[in-house]
Amino acid sequence: MGQGQRLFRTRRLGRDVRGRTLFYTPAAEDLAKPLGKALNIEPLAIYINQFPDSEWYVRVPEETADPNPMLVHRLFPNQNDSLLQLMLILSELADRNQKAQLVTPYLPYAKMHKKVQPGEVVSAKMVGAWLSRWTDEIVTLDCHFIKREGTVSMWGGNYANLSAAGMLLAYAREHSKEPVIVSPDEGAQYLAEGGKERFTLKKVRGGYEQGASGFQRYSKTEGRLDVAGKAVYLVDDMIATGGTMIKAISLAKEAGASRVVALATHGLFVGGADLRMAEAGADRVVVTNSIVTRYSELDIAPLLVAHLGAGHPNRDEAV
Ligand code: R5P
Repeated sequence: MGQGQRLFRTRRLGRDVRGRTLFYTPAAEDLAKPLGKALNIEPLAIYINQFPDSEWYVRVPEETADPNPMLVHRLFPNQNDSLLQLMLILSELADRNQKAQLVTPYLPYAKMHKKVQPGEVVSAKMVGAWLSRWTDEIVTLDCHFIKREGTVSMWGGNYANLSAAGMLLAYAREHSKEPVIVSPDEGAQYLAEGGKERFTLKKVRGGYEQGASGFQRYSKTEGRLDVAGKAVYLVDDMIATGGTMIKAISLAKEAGASRVVALATHGLFVGGADLRMAEAGADRVVVTNSIVTRYSELDIAPLLVAHLGAGHPNRDEAV
């Protein structure tokens, strides 16, 4: 086959991202810059500001030819406003006949993914279905309702669920010769699979609390931990109120762990969760920069580069 013929053959391009556009919002500038550098694309900033009445003003830069531009946006903190900003951006792209490959490292509203009481709104499904309609792929990390690494189609959309498991476990191995990996909750077990010595704790859920927080269910944590004198690394998808980690920290301490480190992909740290974890006996707390916090020691940019650099999932490109 001659050179000319080869030019018209199509195949997956591997790490070639020629012709792609990378948009980013102010909330994701720190991620977009290294992504742009690694992918050899000049990232384009989306301008976001607030009108005096607090409504959002959004301006997406110049039109580009990429039918599926990459869009990097953080949806936490301020998830409600951030989702609204996203809605405005995606509608502008739709007007241009573009559907984004959305990169949102932490996907909010993912915890409410099944109905327990009649009439409860499954917000994970609603947000997922809405995003799916306007996006070509949703690239996220350790999504609460997917619970495994890989690509998944659900609620009408395509999700690429990347995982920080490798870097969380690597952190444990770098800091201890024989780390004991503990899942504080069965749901996040897949994150601990690479651990040599590991235990899984079980969250037992009870009835609903009364009063203002009546939507929250009681839970207690149970499980056997043979960790006397050992360094324990608790690995979970997220730390929100810290309740799950605090129960596991206490159990590990009671079982005689020499050191307890809480590792998670996403650190939301609601209402001083970090301080309460320290009070419960955590020696260290480490999360990724999916959400930027003072505990974000692990950088997810290489994971995103590996996925985005592998070319568009649904498109063969001419070479
Ligand atoms: C539970 O299913 C998750 O894996 C986390 O354990 C949970 O979301 C953490 O939430 P919190 O910090 O509020 O206990």
